[in-house]
Amino acid sequence: MLMHMLPALLILFLASDRSHAQTSYVTGYTSKVSTGSSPSAISSSLTYLVDTTGSMYDDLQQLKLVNNWLLDRITARFPYGVRQYTMVEFNDPTFGQVKVTYSMDEFKAFFNNLYAYDGGDCPELAMNGLKVALENSPPKSFILVLTDASAKDYTNTALLNNIYSLINTKQSQVVFLITGLCWGLDDPAFLIYRDIASKSSGHVFQIGLSDLNKVFNYLDFTLSRPANNTERLLYRYYNGSHTDNFSISTNYTTLLFITDGPITSIRIIGPDLKDSNPKAIVSETWGSMYQVNNPAKGKWTISVNSSSPHAIQVDGLTVTNTSLTARCSNCHPNATCEAYLGLFQCSCKDGYIGDGFSCLDIDECAYSWLNNCTYGYCVNTIGSYDCVCPVGYTKGAGNTCVDINECSSPDLNKCHPLATCFNNVGSYSCVCPPGVLGNGFYCEIDQCARGVCGSNLDCIKNGGSYYCSDPCGNHTVLNEPWRSTANAQYVDVKCDYDKVGWYRFIGNGGIRMPESCVPMLRCNTHAPMWLDGSHPIPTDGIVSRQACAHWSGDCCLWSSTVQIKACPGGYHVYKLNRTQGCSLSYCTDPTSLNDACLCTDDEECRFVSGSYGCYCKENRTITALSDLRPTVNCGTQKLKTTFRKCQLRALKVDVKDIILADSSCFDVLNDNNTNTYSVLSPLQAGNCGMKLKTNSTHAFYTKSFDFTFLLNGMIIRDKLTTTSTCIYPLDMRLSLNAALNPIISTTYINTTDTGNFTAHMSVYNSSSYTYPYQGVSVDILTKTLIYIGVFLDGPDPSLYALVLKNCYATPSSNPDDPMKYYIIQNSCPSKRDGTVSVAENGLSSQAKFSLQMFAFAGNYNQVYMHCEIYACDTSTTICAPSCSGSRALDVTTQTTYSVKLGPFTKLDPAAAYDPAPSVAAAYGTRASWMVTGTMLMFLSIVFVSGKQ
Ligand SMILES: *[C@@H]1O[C@H](CO)[C@@H](O)[C@H](O)[C@H]1NC(C)=O
Ligand SMILES: *[C@@H]1O[C@H](CO)[C@@H](O)[C@H](O)[C@H]1NC(C)=O
Ligand SMILES: *[C@@H]1O[C@H](CO)[C@@H](O)[C@H](O)[C@H]1NC(C)=O
Ligand SMILES: *[C@@H]1O[C@H](CO)[C@@H](O)[C@H](O)[C@H]1NC(C)=O
Ligand SMILES: *[C@@H]1O[C@H](CO)[C@@H](O)[C@H](O)[C@H]1NC(C)=O
Repeated sequence: MLMHMLPALLILFLASDRSHAQTSYVTGYTSKVSTGSSPSAISSSLTYLVDTTGSMYDDLQQLKLVNNWLLDRITARFPYGVRQYTMVEFNDPTFGQVKVTYSMDEFKAFFNNLYAYDGGDCPELAMNGLKVALENSPPKSFILVLTDASAKDYTNTALLNNIYSLINTKQSQVVFLITGLCWGLDDPAFLIYRDIASKSSGHVFQIGLSDLNKVFNYLDFTLSRPANNTERLLYRYYNGSHTDNFSISTNYTTLLFITDGPITSIRIIGPDLKDSNPKAIVSETWGSMYQVNNPAKGKWTISVNSSSPHAIQVDGLTVTNTSLTARCSNCHPNATCEAYLGLFQCSCKDGYIGDGFSCLDIDECAYSWLNNCTYGYCVNTIGSYDCVCPVGYTKGAGNTCVDINECSSPDLNKCHPLATCFNNVGSYSCVCPPGVLGNGFYCEIDQCARGVCGSNLDCIKNGGSYYCSDPCGNHTVLNEPWRSTANAQYVDVKCDYDKVGWYRFIGNGGIRMPESCVPMLRCNTHAPMWLDGSHPIPTDGIVSRQACAHWSGDCCLWSSTVQIKACPGGYHVYKLNRTQGCSLSYCTDPTSLNDACLCTDDEECRFVSGSYGCYCKENRTITALSDLRPTVNCGTQKLKTTFRKCQLRALKVDVKDIILADSSCFDVLNDNNTNTYSVLSPLQAGNCGMKLKTNSTHAFYTKSFDFTFLLNGMIIRDKLTTTSTCIYPLDMRLSLNAALNPIISTTYINTTDTGNFTAHMSVYNSSSYTYPYQGVSVDILTKTLIYIGVFLDGPDPSLYALVLKNCYATPSSNPDDPMKYYIIQNSCPSKRDGTVSVAENGLSSQAKFSLQMFAFAGNYNQVYMHCEIYACDTSTTICAPSCSGSRALDVTTQTTYSVKLGPFTKLDPAAAYDPAPSVAAAYGTRASWMVTGTMLMFLSIVFVSGKQ
């Protein structure tokens, strides 16, 4: 079907009135309750001119409904009125099908059987249709034009002249009911309707579909009166605001003011110059109808504010014979009775319909526009109706049901105080705010959802509050070896439907879940569960992973979420969920057990008597004692020879059955943590068979052991001899060990917090500091370069740097001898002796310097060497002295100890001496010196711990 640009529906109701000619009468006739006055009540014949083009489809649906109502109303008022009902259709290009009947029911059927079809675009052939309607209606008919389009045939002058002539002859009233427009209101295709309405005392209603019933209210009002009781007093078009007058010289019962087009306000002023208070029957933007009862005779003024074109129509109504009677008792009990010109007028009360002598109850529930019960259940009552309101509604003004806004007061709803209330028509809903749990009727702030515990702790709800718990410290331990994926047994099948909370797997089944699909029917269950993902590390906090159950060939037929945390201590805890069914169980990976122990290759981890330990694997790796390969570890003090107990066990040897020759020479270490058996030998050449050899760069310590193994603790079963060797690069210290009788001086130092140290001072014959002078007596030629080394031994000498503060020579053993020859002063080499060279000072636990041998001038045969030293904490201090600047490091706050070496004694006191550069002048004299081995090296060192 074709659509109209602006669909318009014209119902042309032709009333039989003629404008100025006032009354007309038609074939109506009311008999019955005749009052003794005129028996004939006259009502207009009714003609519908209906646009049936396709766009009228919706309009017709609505119109059929209101039409049924309208016809029922008219009939109720004129029960015996005879009128002709005429229906004319117009379409495009056809028009003019005419149907005529005197039966209201048949007319209803005509109308109800109408259907919309075809038609060209807006506008339509309304004028051609109107001509047919006028021709086929009796005189003084009421013609209602129903359309949604303007008229396209308005330019046909002959046709229009024909229509105007017919209106004149037939004195019919044409009312247009238009539900659409093709163009504007000022378009001639629309204005033609106004023109015809004006000439026929009709009216134009341009409305939306939803207002149909209001217009029909007007039609009802008009058609329910005898055709000859209306006199037109004013009918005019205006383009804006206006004031107009009209006069009344007749006794009217009612004045009707009818407008179309939008107006802002209307004032009606009577002859007394007072505002009359009109009653609004219809008041819409498209039109209005006001009623004034018993208007006074005289000059009336009507004043309208409007900014749009509109029409004003004023009608005076007289009472009709049909409702007049001699006695009020003739009126129906549910009618009112009013005196009028010596007689009485009967009118049905509100809620009843009829001619005043007969009043029937109106069923307000039958048509929606008759009641306000949109949201309720309408129950008709005699004279009225009742609106029964459902839950969520309450009775409102005008017999309505209005929605209860349950959110307007907390008393009206059950929302939780935290929730937001949303009112709906007839109900309401409650919604907890974001981050708050609950259904709105109950809301609970979910602190846990806000991550209050961080990613490391589990958040546990406790009523309205919460607390944080570390699952590493709060979990249930599962020691169930059957969980092992290696377990293919199938007895007493297990199921984890009851596991809720944090768990830790321990024991020989493994300490972690497997990370790959496990074959079905393992772990002593039907569908084994494994972890589809990797385990977290401690810095990951608590993570979520999926656990899968393998069944029916699907590695992940069922799954659930588990949370996992890696705990300090190398284990994991799991927050498990009940399995979805039986039999599903969480598996453990037996190889994960090793991570609980950190075992060596020949051991395996086992969980025995509540703790993990490394146990020797059963498979034998060696078969004979000669296969034993002890490891040798070379310490600074000791040589360590180590056997793996698993190897011994493989030979069925228990450590308690080992007998070691010269056992007093060694320390034996039976270590269950590392599962080793070790023999420790002190690195002392010649001691307990420790052999030492040196070459120019290295020292070689070698030790042979004889092990005897007892069988059952009694019988000698076998013997083993092993040889261990440690090789060290030679240094100041080691070379002293290698020397037979080195010249060395030692001082013991006690410290309160770092233990006992020893300071040594020795003299070497080369810059490698690896050849100490040894023996009881050595020859040193004056001017020979001698090398003096000082070093610390102790628990951990690396903590300290040894600093030589002052080193000097004296001719006597008294360090306070006034005759001092400084070699190092304030940690820096003496500038007075060019032979002094400091090779190391303040950098490590040893210090070295060298100088040319000399003798004191005078009668002195001996030279004593003193050094004041201190230990400097390398972790807090820069210990190496800076000697390049003008000032040496000020170390006076350090407490020093002194070491004394000597005496260097002249072998031949008579020989010419070679004085020290500062005190003697004779150089180059050859002399031999003897250095005594019992060093009087005073290490009167006060050892300073690093803490100041
Ligand atoms: C209306 O018409 C009827 C019948 O023709 C007549 O009896 C009656 O007087 C008329 N009423 C008026 C007010 O003209
Ligand atoms: C109009 O009504 C008045 C008073 O109600 C009465 O005196 C007068 O006669 C009536 N006029 C006509 C023409 O009926
Ligand atoms: C008049 O109305 C009342 C209710 O207001 C009703 O009970 C009564 O039956 C009605 N009378 C007639 C005759 O219909
Ligand atoms: C509907 O309600 C309005 C406004 O409250 C009132 O004026 C009107 O009379 C009511 N109509 C009916 C049919 O009850
Ligand atoms: C340990 O966890 C359980 C449940 O997960 C809980 O009920 C208990 O309060 C927790 N204990 C501590 C001390 O956090």
